[in-house]
Amino acid sequence: MYHNPVLLHKSIEGLSICPDGIYVDATFGGGGHARAILQQLGARGRLVAFDQDPEAEVNKPEDKRIIFVNQNFRYLKNFLRLYDVLPVDGILADLGVSSHQFDVAKRGFSTRFDGPLDMRMGKHQNLTAADVINTYSEDELNQVFRLYGEIKNSRCMAKLICAQRKEKVFKTTFELEAAVEKCIPPTRKNKMLAMLFQAIRIEVNQELEVLKSFLEQTADILKPGGRLVVISYHSLEDRLVKNFIKTGNFEGKIKKDFFGNNLVDFKPVVNKVITPDEEEITQNSRARSAKLRIAEKIGEQ
Ligand SMILES: C[S@@+](CC[C@H](N)C(=O)[O-])C[C@H]1O[C@@H](n2cnc3c(N)ncnc32)[C@H](O)[C@@H]1O
Repeated sequence: MYHNPVLLHKSIEGLSICPDGIYVDATFGGGGHARAILQQLGARGRLVAFDQDPEAEVNKPEDKRIIFVNQNFRYLKNFLRLYDVLPVDGILADLGVSSHQFDVAKRGFSTRFDGPLDMRMGKHQNLTAADVINTYSEDELNQVFRLYGEIKNSRCMAKLICAQRKEKVFKTTFELEAAVEKCIPPTRKNKMLAMLFQAIRIEVNQELEVLKSFLEQTADILKPGGRLVVISYHSLEDRLVKNFIKTGNFEGKIKKDFFGNNLVDFKPVVNKVITPDEEEITQNSRARSAKLRIAEKIGEQ
């Protein structure tokens, strides 16, 4: 299976779909969420589905109401303008990597298989995991591992990589895993390698910068009353989403205009973060770290 959609029912419910509306699925993947949106749309409704990975397009249903855009959602507003579908009624983003991307060894995302150090979600970008590992300085690697992987002994890993790459160029995921082995207690091997791979993937795909740009654009393109629904899979992403919805910025401090009004574009529909129940986690282990936030664009409808 390409991908088993996470928090499907609650996220689609969060969009509060109006059958004639225009919706955006920013992360089409296997199309599970997209198909559920189409089911609730009438004949006049439209869905614009983005995925930067060209492989996702095989999942596009034969349906005149869907437009597939093989682009990064950092260009959301430009493409929606190009397709003349602004403003929109709802936007869904189910962040990160699909199961398909994890399961294909040659994409280099998984700690389980030996594959090339690639980790690009789309082919439009140049930077690969091999570039990061072979060219970043020890300080830069340390920073990436610490900030994006939240790895405590990041310096140890960065040092080992820099020492070993004097002898050889790193090409594969298993070479990288072997290189950092000495910094990892055997009992924590899977967890720490996953954190390391997450850090490199975030850097390669500039995931946090792209997410910030995406969130800022959503405020411009949603109709008042329109819904923003975001599923994230690690605390760094969730913090950005939470702060943006609650305070209108990524620092999490409400700013006021000259007249003392809060500078916010959204209000949370549900104040608390929504997580999958035990049953979903048992059926789909990828759901275990998922966090769903739902917000509504403020303004006169
Ligand atoms: C978790 S999967 C989405 C799964 C989807 N909701 C489903 O039901 O099958 C994330 C997808 O979003 C894509 N993606 C991640 N970041 C992206 C970005 N910045 N721009 C466009 N697509 C992105 C990935 O390529 C991947 O296919």
